[in-house]
Amino acid sequence: MKTNIQPTVTLIAIITGWFVACSTLAQNVTTNSLVIHADQGKVAISKNIYGQFSEHLGHCIYGGIWVGENSPIPNTRGIRNDVVAALKKIKVPVLRWPGGCFADKYHWMDGIGPHEKRPPIINTTWGGVVENNAFGTHEFLDFCEQIGCEPYICVNVGSGTVQEMMEWIEYMTSDADSPMANLRRENGREKPWKVPFVAVGNESWGCGGNMTAEYYADNFFRYNTFIQDYAGNNVYRVGSGGLEADYHWTDVLMKRSNEQKNHGGRQMDGYSLHYYTLSTGSWPPKGLATNFTEAQWHATLRYALRMDEFINKHSAIMDKYDPQKRVGLIVDEWGTWHDVEPGTNPGFLYQQNTLRDALVAGITLNILNQHCDRVKMANIAQLVNVLQAMILTDKEKMILTPTYHVFDMFKDHQGATLLPSELTCEDYASGEQKIPGLSVSASKDKSGAVHVTLCNLNPTHSARINCELQGAKAGEISGQVLTAAEMNAHNTFEQPNVVKPEPFKEVQLAGGGFVATLPPKSVVALELK
Ligand code: AHR
Repeated sequence: MKTNIQPTVTLIAIITGWFVACSTLAQNVTTNSLVIHADQGKVAISKNIYGQFSEHLGHCIYGGIWVGENSPIPNTRGIRNDVVAALKKIKVPVLRWPGGCFADKYHWMDGIGPHEKRPPIINTTWGGVVENNAFGTHEFLDFCEQIGCEPYICVNVGSGTVQEMMEWIEYMTSDADSPMANLRRENGREKPWKVPFVAVGNESWGCGGNMTAEYYADNFFRYNTFIQDYAGNNVYRVGSGGLEADYHWTDVLMKRSNEQKNHGGRQMDGYSLHYYTLSTGSWPPKGLATNFTEAQWHATLRYALRMDEFINKHSAIMDKYDPQKRVGLIVDEWGTWHDVEPGTNPGFLYQQNTLRDALVAGITLNILNQHCDRVKMANIAQLVNVLQAMILTDKEKMILTPTYHVFDMFKDHQGATLLPSELTCEDYASGEQKIPGLSVSASKDKSGAVHVTLCNLNPTHSARINCELQGAKAGEISGQVLTAAEMNAHNTFEQPNVVKPEPFKEVQLAGGGFVATLPPKSVVALELK
């Protein structure tokens, strides 16, 4: 009997091969869905969530921003032109200064008047180096004007006085014929500046004076009483928070603020939260910025996601005293904190910045956007050459970090209305630990364009995402993607463009929404019109 077995075997082989190929493919692609309610936005994302922080620490100020008028590095009144141009591009809305821990040792009068008369001091907090006070109030406020942002000043409570703070505010913001306003005029500035944000001390539980919540609350309201609103300058007053998980501190401050209201006193406007992402979850050792395993990648992103937990828990306490959400949660220090680069001053907190940092930035900004009903400002630490910086400089050279590019890609969310969204995504697991594989936020700007920012946390799997856009129909879609072949890809002075945004092609409109495939370990920003 003749059997025709050969074609059957061939067919089985083809089908088996096809299944194997499909299942391999399926192993490397996750399947996810998203619903965006384009007609249900209620709350604006404060542009100040995209704020920055600059401290007299390492080469943030000196070398990073300030080079002096006589420097061969192109500058305007001593401030680097390349840094200003880069910061204008990402639309920095607000800049916090002079610290950080430095703020509670800073005496502002050391930093005004002719440069040669300014007294040098020792920066005992950061590296024990000489601080010559070349960069003071005028230089900082000039820098803010050059980049087009608002200043956020942290006043000295730990080693300062109420009088010193009162005089500083008068110096900067009064247009009267008064001693401090006249001193400012003598120093070359006729018009007062606007200083809309003032923080009363920094980390007053620690470097700001090792206070208890109750003692700090007394101090906050004492200082607050003497903050004067001059010449139409209405100061938003920010109280120092406790450690990230110190909920007692939040309770004490919020309760006291309410009592002020009942006594007709001026309340606290903002309450600060600091949270740093450490890849080991402890310090030390924190691990190097550029040398890590996939398990450390996973742990870093897992720790970054805890921002959501801290905001939820502090907000719940704030809601108890302030259901109207009048007091803003001000996340005025956040970002990754790695070990310093080998061979650099441990007190300068200089670290490289990789694709992993970009993911932390993307995840955190999505969380902050999602909490825009309570979070009214955030300031990543720090602007240049310190911690999770936007910019690294080496003498005349400057590079933009992956984190800078995330701020650039997310900038359309500034001032736009948050759109409610529901994400159903696969987990990204490492050992016993699981985290969501994707992060998202969406907003609608004044022109009606919808902006969606997505992060694929998984470094080995692409993410297919099916998005339904409810309440709107998009006719056009475009986007940018930030990714690289390696988890630790980063830009250097020799190779400044290893990690930079590229046009995103793996997306198409589908049924009024879109279908996209995000590469592994990527940040994607989409615009739908
Ligand atoms: O950003 C570096 C330091 O971290 C700040 O000076 C301090 O406030 C925080 O502990």
